[in-house]
Amino acid sequence: MNNFCKNFAFFILIQAITITPLIVSSSSDPDQGHHVDNTRRSLLFKTWRVHVVNYMSNRKTLLVHCKSKDDDLGIHNLSVGVEFSWKFRPRIFGETLFWCYMAYDNLHATFEVFRDDPYIFAKCDYGDCVWIARDNGIFLKDISSNQDEIRYDWVQGQ
Ligand SMILES: *[C@@H]1O[C@H](CO)[C@@H](O)[C@H](O)[C@H]1NC(C)=O
Repeated sequence: MNNFCKNFAFFILIQAITITPLIVSSSSDPDQGHHVDNTRRSLLFKTWRVHVVNYMSNRKTLLVHCKSKDDDLGIHNLSVGVEFSWKFRPRIFGETLFWCYMAYDNLHATFEVFRDDPYIFAKCDYGDCVWIARDNGIFLKDISSNQDEIRYDWVQGQ
């Protein structure tokens, strides 16, 4: 072996010794991060469903128009007791967001019905977001306790 080769071999040995511990610590250190990441990933791989239900009085028809950035789900006029729903898989990269415009008589509301958000994940019990239109506002069902909670008020005008 000439000098260059000896030096080079020594250099490689030192590299192997110093780099190996770094790799070990970097893969064991963010354990919690990996856990969160996996949870998030499994939520996103699920199929979710958003439901909109008309629970208003006096046979009022509810106009529902829901959209995402990529999809327009169309206008649906729901009679009392009727539900409109759709299912989807959230995007793995980037945000998933659906919002709806709802109206009856001379009142309306526009709001997000699904987004990549722990609050929504919990209320929807990791699968079904149930929005209920009533005379006094729009409610989101807390699936695990089966309680409807008011989330939005109706606004005057169309
Ligand atoms: C829904 O109702 C609105 C307002 O009453 C009406 O203009 C629209 O044509 C209806 N759309 C459908 C799809 O029935």
